Amino acid sequence: MILVSILIAAVALVESVAAHGYVPQIKIGNQYIPGWNVPTDPYTTPQPLRVVRATKPDSGFISDPTSGDITCSIGNSFLPPGPITATVAAGGTVQMLWNTWPIGHYGPVLNYMAKCPGDCSVWKGDTGTPWFKTQQDVYSNGVWASDVLAQSNFTYTVKIPSNITPGNYLLRHENLALHGGANLGGAQFYPVCVQLTVTGGGSLNPSGLGFPGAYSATDPGIHFNPYQGEAANQAYVPPGGPVYPGLAF
Ligand SMILES: *[C@@H]1O[C@H](CO)[C@@H](O)[C@H](O)[C@H]1NC(C)=O
Repeated sequence: MILVSILIAAVALVESVAAHGYVPQIKIGNQYIPGWNVPTDPYTTPQPLRVVRATKPDSGFISDPTSGDITCSIGNSFLPPGPITATVAAGGTVQMLWNTWPIGHYGPVLNYMAKCPGDCSVWKGDTGTPWFKTQQDVYSNGVWASDVLAQSNFTYTVKIPSNITPGNYLLRHENLALHGGANLGGAQFYPVCVQLTVTGGGSLNPSGLGFPGAYSATDPGIHFNPYQGEAANQAYVPPGGPVYPGLAF
């Protein structure tokens, strides 16, 4: 009986940790491409090849924005999902299909890219400043971007700039949940990385941000209380600076 209760408690814990959401599928054009399916992929032998970086052991949040996990997810330091990429044309879109996302995890949705120095699957992206911000949605018409995502079939559309150089990139798509952000260290980060091959494009080679490096717990966009009301939310400025200037879409 005791063992059974412990098992039930353990399952409940796993479910509550996994309940925030992850990205088991992406869509490019009309094509659905498997992402990282948290309940099955880590336990499948052989390891399935995926274009979405693994999050292991679960899909819980990262609370220390200076940790190595902030780059691409929990466990960024191990378990590459595989030497494959999803191909997208510069100027095209990648739809991130979350399995779920709770209403009330108030916060922005932030998107970054970094050019891989070769094969993305063997590159962690966690040193130097290879990243640049491509797109962000924050707060408008009284609604946080996270709630818009939750009300849009858990889908968010990432636009790929039309004028970056072709090649292999990591796309870092992130939900930043601020419902606990009034407390220092209370913000929750949910980054998801996709291995992309961008075709076409132009000659722009942006960079400048590091993960870790770009964020600190005391940033006004991270140590932020989203319950202060409309004026404060409208004045909210997300971390990571503005979208990289000169990107075309
Ligand atoms: C919602 O998203 C799922 C994939 O995450 C998709 O299979 C389904 O068709 C979508 N539903 C609508 C109404 O777009």
